[in-house]
Amino acid sequence: MPVHSGEYLRLGPLQTRIKTHRRYSEHVDDVEAAVMAQLWLQPRESLLDVGCGTGSFLARLRDSGHSGPLSGLDSSPAASLACAEIRGVRAVVGDAVQLPFPNAEFDAVTARHMLYHVSDVPAALRETSRVLRAGGRFVAVVNHADVTPRIASVVREQAARHGATPSVSPNAEVNSASLPAQMAEVFGPVDVVAHDNSLVFDTPEPVVAFGQALMNFYGVGDDSPEQEAVAAGIEQAVRAWFARNSGPWRDPKGYVVCTARRRD
Ligand SMILES: C[S@@+](CC[C@H](N)C(=O)[O-])C[C@H]1O[C@@H](n2cnc3c(N)ncnc32)[C@H](O)[C@@H]1O
Repeated sequence: MPVHSGEYLRLGPLQTRIKTHRRYSEHVDDVEAAVMAQLWLQPRESLLDVGCGTGSFLARLRDSGHSGPLSGLDSSPAASLACAEIRGVRAVVGDAVQLPFPNAEFDAVTARHMLYHVSDVPAALRETSRVLRAGGRFVAVVNHADVTPRIASVVREQAARHGATPSVSPNAEVNSASLPAQMAEVFGPVDVVAHDNSLVFDTPEPVVAFGQALMNFYGVGDDSPEQEAVAAGIEQAVRAWFARNSGPWRDPKGYVVCTARRRD
């Protein structure tokens, strides 16, 4: 069972987080371009995107003229449906720890911002290796352990105050410090490129929206009785911060793009 699986029953909160990173990052933050730069994907090669989410990465590959087979797998039916709408994409509902594909099916596999949701990361990495052809490339993206600490602490505090069952941040266990060694166990040498940045906000509204889009990670799901109270508490705390402080709200963040090849 994927961890935090309730978070992706609908894609709204994910879309809010993606838009926030695009619009409010201090330096341009284009994770998809960072992955493409490490992937060296040739136009006719096959690619599997594990945890494909909204499908924007697959759509971008297709729109850029990629003609090889593109597949997207996600444990969320909503994500799989979104990917199925992209021309020529094979979309599958499934779990990264048990990929429903034959051995050596793909030239490249990506897992962008998703391994921290997986119940057994070594198993998912072994599965990735299994479905890659010999010499095929794997590119994974994970966050630093302590991303956007200021908004995270507001959400955590409000969740606790309103009695939500606390849950550990998804980045606590699988992050930029831990993943390279885990990948090396399965693949051998791993190339790591770090992208450090910050979210910078001049007004409270986008901070509130971003914080509310993180609630599920702190034990406040769509069906939680405390959801409304926590959302209101986040808004109040963020507005109070802007009333007390003149400068912008700055929250550091960052991720690594890790690349490896399947051993022959
Ligand atoms: C943070 S989102 C990232 C989506 C996309 N890769 C991106 O970067 O925009 C994580 C995605 O992984 C999916 N996911 C979580 N656990 C999974 C698992 N065990 N197997 C497959 N997909 C999973 C979620 O449903 C969600 O779509």
